[in-house]
Amino acid sequence: MDHFVVQPSGPLSGKVSVSGAKNSALKLMAASLLAEGTFSFDNVPMNADVGVMAQTLSAIGCSVQIAEPDICVVAVPEVLEPEAPYELVTRMRASINVLGPLIGRLGQARVALPGGDAIGSRKLDMHFRGLRAMGVDLTVRHGYIEAFVPDRLKGVTHTLEFPSVGATENIMTAAVLANGVTVIENAAREPEIAQLASMLNRMGGEILGAGSPRIEIRGVDHLEAVHETVIPDRIEAGTFVMVCAIAGGEIEILGARPDDMDMLIAKMSEMGVLIAPTAEGIWVKRTGELKAADVATLPHPGLATDFMPPLVAVLTVAEGRSIVTENIFDGRFAFVDELVRMGAHIRTEGGHCIIKGVPRLSGAQVRALDVRAGAALVLAGMVADVPTTIHDPVHIDRGYVNLVDKLSGLGVKIERVVSHPFDYADY
Ligand code: EPU
Repeated sequence: MDHFVVQPSGPLSGKVSVSGAKNSALKLMAASLLAEGTFSFDNVPMNADVGVMAQTLSAIGCSVQIAEPDICVVAVPEVLEPEAPYELVTRMRASINVLGPLIGRLGQARVALPGGDAIGSRKLDMHFRGLRAMGVDLTVRHGYIEAFVPDRLKGVTHTLEFPSVGATENIMTAAVLANGVTVIENAAREPEIAQLASMLNRMGGEILGAGSPRIEIRGVDHLEAVHETVIPDRIEAGTFVMVCAIAGGEIEILGARPDDMDMLIAKMSEMGVLIAPTAEGIWVKRTGELKAADVATLPHPGLATDFMPPLVAVLTVAEGRSIVTENIFDGRFAFVDELVRMGAHIRTEGGHCIIKGVPRLSGAQVRALDVRAGAALVLAGMVADVPTTIHDPVHIDRGYVNLVDKLSGLGVKIERVVSHPFDYADY
């Protein structure tokens, strides 16, 4: 298996560019199912998850072409197969985002139930409640979600129990072709939701308020294929901010949008990191000691849960005691044990972890459990005494494009060691 080797690094310098947002590209691609025609997307991050979404759309009947460096073309036929198979949904949960578009366009869908993953149980009850309120007959049988609408979907006012990103997206993409007006109260406000609504509107949809807690969707009869440019990845941009925070130095992150990560910037400033907007992105500098901080993850515009693992890595070497509270996913502290193997002083208590900063970590062999946990280990390796080996980088590949090249360009000493499959002929 491939692995990463990260050596002690810093201070850093230089510029790094942000790729398109994985969590926007996946949803835009899924929403293309809503209209017959040829969609094209640019600024698509060519990571493993985008590849799985391309395969999912192909299984449904689309023809998908991925052209380097960042273009994806999805040709959606008139007739679609309303099924997303287990092999694909289990490889990437975001395949569940085809549910809303399939129900909206075809009135039926059969989508494998993804199950939990390394960060939590990840239920879908809010997706189901919203769709059922719109008249969908939805059951779970033999590991599949089977959904059917006897007539056209009907618009309703529906309040989400929690501002779930996925539930907001599935309800919105189903409602865009419904009969009447759907209102989602307590909707998720992530920038990726605003981009999805903006694309749906350019396709002919009538959606107001996306990006706020109240989204109003007036159903239309017909949508058309469009071209869309994926927004910059705020999580990747924030990861680079934290790379500079932990290793020190001064960098510019091109394409980063400070407004999409206000809370991370506020916390980093509290910890002693200087951040300012530039004409092309943001500038980050850290020369002094890092200070401890208490942080809690919350739905946008609160501190994104996807920032939490790398932030915990940064706090392991901040002076003082920090308390980190995870409010979104019930299993997201599993990666902490890998940092403890590297000498971090961290104690977890339910949804909290208490971190006592140490001057330096201790390089070790560790394992990336999920995409953001993997990023946390890369950061930790930069402030360890000896090289750190990170196994299972396949998880990191899911969310970061060319991470090794991008970080190397800033002065991080990181390499990917490619392993060759076992072959008897070698012996
Ligand atoms: N939840 C329920 N029932 C539901 C839906 C959600 O209980 O019906 C719970 C979840 O179990 C979780 C919380 O609500 O505890 C939040 O889930 P949400 O639906 O908001 O998240 P998601 O749509 O599954 C997306 C991102 C995640 C990101 C979260 C939160 C994608 C593909 N995934 O997940 O990104 O952490 O929103 O912002 O967009 C990542 O990129 O590494 C990643 C995990």
